[in-house]
Order: sequence, then structure tokens, then C-alpha cells
Amino acid sequence: MKKINVNLKENSCEIFIQKNILNRFRTIADQSNLKGRYFLLLDSNVNRKAKEKISKFLSDQNISNEKMILSASEKNKSFVSLEKILGRMIKLNANRDSLLIAIGGGIIGDIGGFAAATYSRGIKYVQVPTTLLACVDSSVGGKTGINFSGIKNIVGSYHQPSVVLIDPEFLKTLKPAEVLSGMGEIIKYALLSDEEFFDYVRNNLNSLYSLNTKVVAELIERSVKFKAGVVAQDEKETLGIRKILNLGHTFGHAIEADQNYKIKHGQAVIIGIVCSLYLSKRLGLLTGKKFDEIIDPINWFKGKIKVKNYNVNSMIRAMKKDKKNSEGRIKFVLLKDIGKTLVNVEAERGQIVDSINEGMKFFK
Ligand SMILES: NC(=O)c1ccc[n+]([C@@H]2O[C@H](COP(=O)([O-])OP(=O)(O)OC[C@H]3O[C@@H](n4cnc5c(N)ncnc54)[C@H](O)[C@@H]3O)[C@@H](O)[C@H]2O)c1
Repeated sequence: MKKINVNLKENSCEIFIQKNILNRFRTIADQSNLKGRYFLLLDSNVNRKAKEKISKFLSDQNISNEKMILSASEKNKSFVSLEKILGRMIKLNANRDSLLIAIGGGIIGDIGGFAAATYSRGIKYVQVPTTLLACVDSSVGGKTGINFSGIKNIVGSYHQPSVVLIDPEFLKTLKPAEVLSGMGEIIKYALLSDEEFFDYVRNNLNSLYSLNTKVVAELIERSVKFKAGVVAQDEKETLGIRKILNLGHTFGHAIEADQNYKIKHGQAVIIGIVCSLYLSKRLGLLTGKKFDEIIDPINWFKGKIKVKNYNVNSMIRAMKKDKKNSEGRIKFVLLKDIGKTLVNVEAERGQIVDSINEGMKFFK
């Protein structure tokens, strides 16, 4: 079993990676002092696809009425769903010692975490991520929230899970589009980290896509370790350190908004990373040679990720609304090299437009 700690004093979180980790739930919960009554928020697809695993967990942990099933969609990452979750917990007399367990992808993790952050001013929660994206990214770091007024994740809070339990076995039933989405965040971590991590990804793209057990476990561990290290230094994004995790995300969020959220988050991130690489080269931060070296393995995604029509103006408008900007100025995370990032970089409108067009053309 692998164990990674997000070191945040009283908000610290322990991440465990192991096949069938839910079988050890009670032991881990006892060690982490998670003693209250258990409530479960469960992704409806996981409920169907991992029936046996879930049934065993429910009976082992004596969870019956406390199970809440939610269909994972951006539309359901809403106040309406939040109200239902909180309402059910009130009805069943959840108290400050109750524990909310969220089993599912990033949507279930984000809304479950936010329900835990707000119920009774904050109760403990456990994340059990079941998508590749949630395993490598969204389950770690304590960002929770819901969409509101057409804006993604605009209402939320930082609330660290006490424990994250990663069972790579869950991923076996994922659709290929979801695997690609998780691969986007893995590429991001490799680029933020070092050449060795990037080379490992470059050499294992096919194995990762086909969910080879060893490769998946290795890349989950590397990504989580990197993110845990960054989050531990800047939990609430007040010091600027955590900003690097937004590599590819300024463009990526704009692509998601322009595509009416029909494109998967991690897929938009891959396109966003390519746009960022073009912008990094254009601004003279990245040499042509380095650009070619980094872009080469990303060619693997060509034909697998597609955007048909896009509107540059709507994308720039979306970028200006990005939560991460200040005074309406668009800020980018760009690369000087693998493992060397620059944050808060600004660019001329024309340079941004050209980088979007180049990034989109790359995937055409
Ligand atoms: N909190 C954070 O730091 C953070 C970071 C990145 C993304 N996010 C958020 O995460 C969300 C995206 O998460 P996601 O990519 O995991 O998508 P998701 O939660 O929508 O899951 C994708 C699909 O896979 C299904 N699914 C989940 N597990 C499955 C399994 N094991 N087998 C088969 N199907 C399964 C879901 O039902 C859904 O249909 C977005 O809302 C995004 O804003 C949050």
C-alpha cells in the first residue's frame, strides 16, 4: 500500500493507494479517528459498474438509508443537489461527528466535499475517487464547490478530506474519453515536475490509455505526490505557489466554456497546455528546440481529442472572467522548460489569439 501525506497541520490529509482499499476502510478510519456515523454520496454509474464492491462496502460499514446516489453531471453540481444532500443528512440526524464519504469522480468529490464543508459548519469527509482525473487531481487539495449562475465552481470552499482512498481497480470501467481526460492532468503534472516523469509518460502513453495496472499506479502516485507537495506549501492559494497547478487551465477553462462544457475537463486541459506551449514559445520563454521536444509526445492525442468549431472572441471573454485574474487582466501559467514555470504572465491580445488558433489547429 502506498501512503502520501498532504502536510497541513490540523488540516492534514492522508492518501492511500491500493487495490481494494475499501476493504481496509474500518482500520484506516479508526487510525484517523473517523468514528462518527457514516453518510455516503455515491456516483450513480459507479453504483452500477462496481456493484459488488459497493454492496460489500455498504454491508461492511452498515450503511443503508445514509446512502445518497447522484448522477454526475455539471448540471447536478448545483444548489439543488446540495440541498438534497444536506436535507437528507438533517432528516437522518447527522451531527458534527458524522462522516461524509464521497465515492465517484470529480463532480461527486467536489459537491460531496462542499456538503461536508457546509454541514454544521464543517464535518469530516473521505474521498474515494473513481475516475483517473479524480485520482490524480481533484480528490487531492481540498477544493470543493458547485456551479452557479452558469459559472463553474463559483461557489465553494477549501475543505481538506481527512483521507483519500484510491483503488485503481475502479478505473477499469471508465470510458476511453474519461481516461483521456485524466491523462490531460497527468501530462500537466509531468511538465510541472521533471524530465524523468515526462519521459515516463512519453514512453507509456499506450499502456496508460489501456489502463495497465503498473503504469496507472505509478502515474497516480507521481501525480498525487507532486500535487500534495504543492498544496502543502500553499493550501489556500494565498502565496502564489499553488498557481502553477493551473498550467493549461486558463486556455482550458475558456475552451470548456466555449464548448458549453460538452468537452471533458482534462481534454480541454491538454488543448490548453498546447496553447500555453505556443504562447510560451511566442513570448520567447521556451526555445523552439524545447517546444518540439515537449510537443512531440502530445501528438499521440491527435485524432483522439477534437474540437470542431470554436469562437476566439468568446474564449477571450471567458478568460477575462476567470477567477484567477486580477483587474480584468488575463494571467497565464507558462513554461520555460520541463519543471520550470512562470506564473502571472500577461500577453497581448493578438498573441493570445494566435496561440489559441495554433493550439486548435494542432488537434484538428
Ligand atoms: N476540486 C478540484 O481540485 C478539481 C480539479 C479538477 C477538476 N475538478 C472538477 O472535477 C469534475 C470533473 O471530474 P471527472 O473528470 O472525474 O468527471 P465526472 O465526475 O463527471 O465523471 C465522469 C463520468 O464518469 C463516470 N464515472 C465515474 N467513475 C466511474 C467508473 N469507475 N466507471 C465508469 N464510469 C465512472 C461518472 O458517472 C461520469 O459520467 C469537474 O466538475 C471539475 O470542475 C475539480
